[in-house]
Amino acid sequence: MKAEVVQRTYSLRKRVAWRLIPPLAIILALNAFWSYKSAMDAANSAYDRSLTASLKSVAENIHSTGGHISVDIPYSALDIFEGGVQEHVYYAIIGPDGLHLTGYDDLLPPYWKSSSVEPTMVDMSFRRQLIRMGTFDKRLYDPELVGGDTVTILFAETTEARSRLAFSLFLDSLRPQLLLITVGLLLVIIVLRSAFRPLLDVRNTIRQRNEEDLTPVSQSNVPNELLPLIDAINYHMDRLEKLLQARRRFLADAAHQIRTPLTVLGTQAEYGQRQTDPEEMRITFTSLLDTIRSTRRMANQMLTLARAEPANGLIQEFSRLDFVELVRDVAGELAVLALKKNIDLSFEASATVVFINGNATMLREMVSNLVDNALRYTQDNGHVTLCMSMADDLVVLRIVDDGSGIPEVEREKVFQRFYRILGQSDSVGGGLGLAIVREICWAHRGQIRLGEGRDGRGLAAEISLPLASP
Ligand SMILES: Nc1ncnc2c1ncn2[C@@H]1O[C@H](COP(=O)(O)OP(=O)(O)OP(=O)(O)O)[C@@H](O)[C@H]1O
Ligand SMILES: [Mg+2]
Repeated sequence: MKAEVVQRTYSLRKRVAWRLIPPLAIILALNAFWSYKSAMDAANSAYDRSLTASLKSVAENIHSTGGHISVDIPYSALDIFEGGVQEHVYYAIIGPDGLHLTGYDDLLPPYWKSSSVEPTMVDMSFRRQLIRMGTFDKRLYDPELVGGDTVTILFAETTEARSRLAFSLFLDSLRPQLLLITVGLLLVIIVLRSAFRPLLDVRNTIRQRNEEDLTPVSQSNVPNELLPLIDAINYHMDRLEKLLQARRRFLADAAHQIRTPLTVLGTQAEYGQRQTDPEEMRITFTSLLDTIRSTRRMANQMLTLARAEPANGLIQEFSRLDFVELVRDVAGELAVLALKKNIDLSFEASATVVFINGNATMLREMVSNLVDNALRYTQDNGHVTLCMSMADDLVVLRIVDDGSGIPEVEREKVFQRFYRILGQSDSVGGGLGLAIVREICWAHRGQIRLGEGRDGRGLAAEISLPLASP
């Protein structure tokens, strides 16, 4: 049984696009943060000027004579109407003794108030409102004042106008950035599209091909990255081409081989038809039956060969089996043939059971073809020995006879389909036996070798197959 293939596909283009989005989003967020900060700074520096002016005009109106501080808040300082918004203004003046002289009692200076000559600005919240407060220390140079001669002026305004300005500045700077990013994304999509174009081109050229066309796909005008893929496709095409050629050849050979016995059958039948002597007719029928038998055998062998081909998948049905038992069975079945020719057929094995993984029917066919050859191409009163031994993780089966043998130059050729050695006494065979043997042997990850038989005579066929894991 073939394992089910789990199909999982993905688009490379989408993958690239998705992986670009998180870094782009981070860049966008950082950029927005900085833009907002600089917009806020710009708005503050614009509005802080009027806040400083108010602070200073208040400071100018604070005087002290004879230990008495007089404060006169100019109306202009309190009327802050900015950017179309009426801001709330809060102020407080704190005397040298730390007590509020005037203004809002709950308005307090920040903890880290610096005592510079220029006003310091700070953002804070007051009465659940965001305010920007300026702080300024003024010396009054009145020796009669107790606890020092410095007053602290706090002057604050709500920040609605600033926020509005900052936000509109921020939007202004964001617009071109968004535009840039959109253009960038579009460019990425366009570039991805054009980068993957060659892949689609290759697909189209292969799709548009004639189904008979197995010539290699052209490697010109193709990006380097695609070359391994095209290489693999071409390698596969090459194998397919060879397979198809072999099929065509086999079909032609098979048709030819079937035609010959059919012609013979026709001739025999015509000859029988003309006979009047019943004895002659009986003889003709006998040879007719012989021809039918050998033709049937050949047809069966062709079927076996087709089944043994890996592409048909039938041979993949493996099971664990005892090879000793299998070989003994086959030898038993063919004992009749040995008896007929008075051949001494023997089987020796170095173990009583030898497990291998394989297709029992096919392995029987393989052994039976080899034993059949040995018996067939050995003269009467000859010897055929089956000998099984173990080597490492292999089982080796040797089928040795003392028949005519196969000359060294022919030992590779006899594996070809329909190949027979000219001048062999036996005329029954079709030349498919050894082709089947080799096909089955390879399908079981085994090896086959032909060598010299007993005492420099005959043939020794040696098959080695991997043992089943314990
Ligand atoms: N044991 C052998 N001794 C001598 N010659 C052999 C032996 N085995 C095979 N051959 C030679 O190799 C040729 C090919 O063998 P193969 O088994 O493929 O075909 P076949 O026996 O002629 O026909 P088939 O087995 O299809 O009925 C045979 O025709 C024969 O000449
Ligand atoms: Mg044979």
